[in-house]
Amino acid sequence: MIEPELNSQKSKYNIGQLVNEPDLHMPLVDVIRTRRTVRRYQDKLIPHDKLEMLLRLSTHAPSACNRRGWRFIIIEDQKSLDWLYKKGGAAFIPKVRQAVLVCYFGHTDNMEWRDVEQSASTAISYFQLLAHAEGIGSCWICHLPPKREVRRFFKIPSNYTPIALLTVGYYIEDMNVTERRVDSEELVTMDYWKFSHAPDKDTVGFKLFLKRTLRKLYYLFPKREWLRELTHKFEKKFHNHD
Ligand SMILES: Cc1cc2nc3c(=O)[nH]c(=O)nc-3n(C[C@H](O)[C@H](O)[C@H](O)COP(=O)(O)O)c2cc1C
Repeated sequence: MIEPELNSQKSKYNIGQLVNEPDLHMPLVDVIRTRRTVRRYQDKLIPHDKLEMLLRLSTHAPSACNRRGWRFIIIEDQKSLDWLYKKGGAAFIPKVRQAVLVCYFGHTDNMEWRDVEQSASTAISYFQLLAHAEGIGSCWICHLPPKREVRRFFKIPSNYTPIALLTVGYYIEDMNVTERRVDSEELVTMDYWKFSHAPDKDTVGFKLFLKRTLRKLYYLFPKREWLRELTHKFEKKFHNHD
């Protein structure tokens, strides 16, 4: 039985090393511990057959009713990436050279548990881990223009739904794995919810209501590209590998 060190610093791998020595067969536990989101990549494009191999491998993931409804659109056209940004996508999108739009078959009777989104996400997680072991960094993005606009732009048929964008690229060399914060938090209880306090994340109550309303109004505005530079300032800033 494996008793892994939870501390990622104790992994014998680090991202910097993966730049020069990718190892698709590195131990799973090390892949999980050393993967981090990156938002800056080498200029070199990932060959399509390699991306496709990683995406196909990712579809070993579980899916509700074994529907296996994934579809992936590789995006390299800078105009498409710029469009995603201008229409309200994450601020760093125009700086990347490749991305993957993940779509999933949208017809389900299980709306309450959102099995479409859950199923789509399994393969995304698998992909991020596999790509990482191949020396490829990624960022999972759902800060995107409204689905109906994405659907129209990328010609996605009505029975499929866009789920998320993954920016991808080879790691640049100065990446170091930073420590995780989760280890000290209460994460597990037995039999039913017995946590000593409710998680007190920062977005509750009025602040959340306000953020939701502003978001809704922003994405309702058809000419939102006029506001893009302004809204840029209010986006969450990531200092880690961005
Ligand atoms: C569902 C989901 C949506 C995300 N959306 C965005 C996004 O829109 N923009 C972004 O820069 N990062 C996004 N991320 C990446 C997270 O910010 C990142 O995973 C988090 O900061 C933890 O960092 P790590 O992946 O290095 O562990 C998203 C991640 C997930 C799982």
